[in-house]
Amino acid sequence: MSKDRTYALITYGCQMNLHDAERIGGILRASGWLETSPEEAAAVILLTCCVRESAEERFYGRLFSLRPLKEKGTLIAVGGCLAQKEGLRLLERAPFVDLVFGTRQYPRIAHLLEEAEKGPLCALEMVSLDYTDLPAERRERFRAWVTITHGCDNFCSYCIVPFVRGREASRPISEVVEEVGRLVDDGVKEVNLLGQNVNSYRRREEGKSRFADLLRLLGREYPGIWIRFTTSHPRDFDRDIMSAIADTEAVCEHVHLPLQAGSDRILSAMRRGYRSDEYLSKVADLRRIVKGVVLTTDIMVGFPGETEDDFRRTLEMVQRCRFDAAFTFMYNDRPGTAAARLPGKVPAQVKLERLERLATLTRSLTSASLADRVGRVEKVLVEGLSRKDPGRWRARTRGNQLVHFPKGEEDLTGEFVEVSITSAGSWSLYGQNVGLIGRRGDRDLP
Ligand code: SAH
Ligand code: SF4
Ligand code: F3S
Repeated sequence: MSKDRTYALITYGCQMNLHDAERIGGILRASGWLETSPEEAAAVILLTCCVRESAEERFYGRLFSLRPLKEKGTLIAVGGCLAQKEGLRLLERAPFVDLVFGTRQYPRIAHLLEEAEKGPLCALEMVSLDYTDLPAERRERFRAWVTITHGCDNFCSYCIVPFVRGREASRPISEVVEEVGRLVDDGVKEVNLLGQNVNSYRRREEGKSRFADLLRLLGREYPGIWIRFTTSHPRDFDRDIMSAIADTEAVCEHVHLPLQAGSDRILSAMRRGYRSDEYLSKVADLRRIVKGVVLTTDIMVGFPGETEDDFRRTLEMVQRCRFDAAFTFMYNDRPGTAAARLPGKVPAQVKLERLERLATLTRSLTSASLADRVGRVEKVLVEGLSRKDPGRWRARTRGNQLVHFPKGEEDLTGEFVEVSITSAGSWSLYGQNVGLIGRRGDRDLP
């Protein structure tokens, strides 16, 4: 680049994007680039999400606010899911953008930025991804994401992800195990295995082929860390996976199992591949097999054709499953998906009203779940200082519940601590530190 090789990254969307941003950072760093603020940077890179309209609106707002930088000569690059979906249309809508790159192009980011200096460029090819030698600039030293599958083959009728992330592919087991090993050597205490549907992880080498085997193998090799995974798909979440969670000490007792809707008619129109009774029986098995499991979910209201009766079934399922927490969304059309072509669109006002009724219920379940923990001693991993109160630490239990506790002299970031839970709020637990468990590097001491 003619100017200094400095970049800024602005990331939207899910953990896949946050992790892609770490890879982009790592690749650019390895090519001699330095990170800085958007105002100072020679190149501003935005990683986008298009799963819901609101994500797109937030991105466009930010993109147009960057136009003055362009006048100073800053290169503007837009990558990720919305870039994959819009391609050239994005250049038409925002002609000041220099580079549009898709979800499988970021390994070439350094080269693409150089090329975009010569004129606007759009790189969207869905090549297969090979992570083996990709560096990553991790945002946290004690916690890391590890991709185990990319893409998604499920084509739930409302969802844009399979169109923008491409076909599902599982990484070789040996590669995943090696990557986790390198992270553990680096002092990482928690890994989060990533995929749109981790339960369908499947490889045929080394006699080990499925997600449950991967959990057991990682747990055997690295017993001292915490292992999480996201996202599970109810259709593929089987008893073997539940047993692997229960039997493997390293694997945390938290399952995020998106329900989406409670009515069988709507589940079928969503092409989710399960009925409500099957979901309920999996939840019963899970609670029996994995003692004390924390169960979270995603739910959508206002799918085309959703009646008041369908919505009541969603409320009923939420009651019966007693979710510990839920992310709730209003359905919106994603052009190109099957659901976007369905009749019976639910008016915005009705969607909003249902969302509020649902959120009232899920909030009360979350409060009850948190209150249930009061009086226990929980092992937690400290993430850093509380965002609201710098006099407290922010930490997470094995069940992924947030805990705040008073800060002392010592820096506990990235440490396992035992906390006695003294009270519960709406979103978080409060407690007192009762002891530090195994400091980083202890295993190197005589
Ligand atoms: N792979 C994961 C996450 C997909 S996106 C899964 O299968 O669950 C995260 C959540 O966004 C979904 O679970 C769904 O609840 C929501 N979502 C996806 N498409 C949507 C749409 N068109 N409108 C509203 N919410 C949507
Ligand atoms: Fe979308 Fe369904 Fe795939 Fe999740 S499983 S990413 S909701 S298509
Ligand atoms: Fe994630 Fe949004 Fe893409 S949810 S996969 S960044 S569309």
